[in-house]
Amino acid sequence: MTQHLLSIDDLGADGIVELLDLAEFMAEVSARPIPKVPALRGKTVVSLFFEDSTRTRVSFETAARRLSADVMGFSVGTSSVKKGESLRDTIETIAAMGIDAIVVRHGSSGVPWQVAQWCDASVINAGDGWHQHPTQALLDCYTIRAELDRPFADLHVAIVGDVKHSRVARSDVDALTALGARVTLVAPLTLLPPSLEGWSVEVSHDLDAVLPTVDVCYLLRMQLERQSEGLVPSLREYTSCFGLNAARAARLPDHAIVMHPGPMNRGVEIAADVADLPRAVITQQVRNGVAVRMAVLYWLLGSGITLGGGNVIGASAGGSDA
Ligand code: NCD
Repeated sequence: MTQHLLSIDDLGADGIVELLDLAEFMAEVSARPIPKVPALRGKTVVSLFFEDSTRTRVSFETAARRLSADVMGFSVGTSSVKKGESLRDTIETIAAMGIDAIVVRHGSSGVPWQVAQWCDASVINAGDGWHQHPTQALLDCYTIRAELDRPFADLHVAIVGDVKHSRVARSDVDALTALGARVTLVAPLTLLPPSLEGWSVEVSHDLDAVLPTVDVCYLLRMQLERQSEGLVPSLREYTSCFGLNAARAARLPDHAIVMHPGPMNRGVEIAADVADLPRAVITQQVRNGVAVRMAVLYWLLGSGITLGGGNVIGASAGGSDA
């Protein structure tokens, strides 16, 4: 059966932990002088991005190449999509060329599920609308585990900012709560989803009060393109209440880390000097993203692993012949 990664819920806590363990092995591969293994030789991975992206796309393509897969990039801007080709026809055309995985990002929620019905390839959701971004959540959990090295059940994570429009927030809440962490959403009411039914989170509107109690302060990008909706009175007011400036960062416990999925709006949700503090692990998140995506691609295409099934992982991916 073709396996996909569409949502964090596909994995469960055991599946998440197994992928994080596999990613540790992949990080070791990435640190080698020749960071390449033959695990996915002969496999073809297509990246199909209908929305802008820097880090996610490059990260997936780098991950696929480090496993020796062939990578096909598909630029929507120069494709027949511009001539009105439907999503379904686009997928069927690409699938007819014989591919093993499609990494898809789209502005509409649910598109990766549709794509999975239209082709035989494994589908990886690289972000659908406001809905899910599972590999971002995995790399965030990986980074938290690597930086703090304590059980998730002992951690308190604040997710701060535009939760309403954020697929990163939804995926991170799913992953962190599955792993047992305590999560507090910190935002003005207008930037929270209309209902939080089914979310195992606490909510606060007072960042200053929450900061001394957290191990992780996760800042979301303020979606500037949505400010015409008038969800905050002004960006200056948002920044003064919810932006992480140096004075606020000083309220964090010594060991606490600051995270952001990128792209950052320096001076809005995060002050420029805070983004450059040693406790800000934003570059580590990007670096870990490659290892995590290698783990996901290897799980889906190369391993025969069923997550949660207790299979031994890692050993057969080793041995560089590059
Ligand atoms: C995010 C995204 O596109 O969902 N970026 C990312 O993938 N690192 C976050 C965002 O754009 O706000």
